[in-house]
Amino acid sequence: MRVGVLTGGGDCPGLNAVIRGIVRKGEHHYGDEIIGFHDGWRGVMDGEFESLNIERMRGLLGRGGTTLGTSRISPPRVEGGIEKCQATFDLLGLDCIIAIGGEGTLSCSNEFVERGMPVVGVPKTIDNDIDLTERTFGFDTAVSIATDAIDRLHTTGESHNRVMVVEVMGRHVGHIATWAGIAGGATMTLIPEEPFDISAVCESLTRRHREGRYASIVVVAEGAKPLDGTMDIRPDAYDAFGHIRLGGIANLVATEIERRTKFETRVTILGHVQRGGSPTAYDRVLSTRFGVRAIEAVHEGAWGQMVALQSAEIVLVPLKDAIANLKTVHPQIWAVAKEFFA
Ligand code: F6P
Repeated sequence: MRVGVLTGGGDCPGLNAVIRGIVRKGEHHYGDEIIGFHDGWRGVMDGEFESLNIERMRGLLGRGGTTLGTSRISPPRVEGGIEKCQATFDLLGLDCIIAIGGEGTLSCSNEFVERGMPVVGVPKTIDNDIDLTERTFGFDTAVSIATDAIDRLHTTGESHNRVMVVEVMGRHVGHIATWAGIAGGATMTLIPEEPFDISAVCESLTRRHREGRYASIVVVAEGAKPLDGTMDIRPDAYDAFGHIRLGGIANLVATEIERRTKFETRVTILGHVQRGGSPTAYDRVLSTRFGVRAIEAVHEGAWGQMVALQSAEIVLVPLKDAIANLKTVHPQIWAVAKEFFA
């Protein structure tokens, strides 16, 4: 078969391992021809691609980023974009496309499926917010990086008796914050799913410091929100979509903590460090399994399906169901996190 592959959305450790899994099983087992599109759906739209083979995959298993490049371009949102993609698909004589991406790329892929294009999806995001899969690759790497950072902040925070506020990624969900908060022994974790009351946060910190433990780590997901009316936020702190600006919430929280408690407070914004570099062993294995299962799905003609991890098995789920809702933090793990607050 002739199979197109693309990676879309924010990059993520493990993308190369997925591509390698597809190419390895595709070429070796099925004798497929694999075409890699550059920069996600943009490459399909503009007809930019290259041939992939096992040789081209050498050295990529443990390499972060994506060797194909990525973009957030969604052809259905571009004038004539759908027609251009269909023309590339026909010109290359493709049998299908494997789209590796997060919510945006998979939603765009689903639009193509609804128009009759054969597409198989592979879920990707460090945020772990794709529904119907217990895990997305990249998440384990991001949590490990954030946990390492928190461990380091503990010792400097303790030495100076400070409150250390650390912002992690997670615009809509708090999986990274919750897991890194538990793993790193956070004093408090703030996530988008549970709007916080800054007075309650400050009271807890004050109580804790009064009891003699003089350093606190507050983990904040970038999308964490204060309860309505509990914190003054200047209008310019919001972006065009009404979200508090990336890298903004930790600074706002830290300023408020210092103002209200008088404890010296410092901010660390981990940002894209969480997304760069080598995937962990866990993510390399999960990515490889996703890649291998995706090319198998192609040979089963499982169009409109997405590979997913469920109960330790890689299964197929309908793409349209996977993108219907974001997967939020499970109340059970959130309850465990809260058990250790302040
Ligand atoms: O990959 C998802 C994510 O990590 C979000 O948590 C974050 O808001 C976003 O990417 C930032 O990505 P970029 O800077 O590439 O727009």
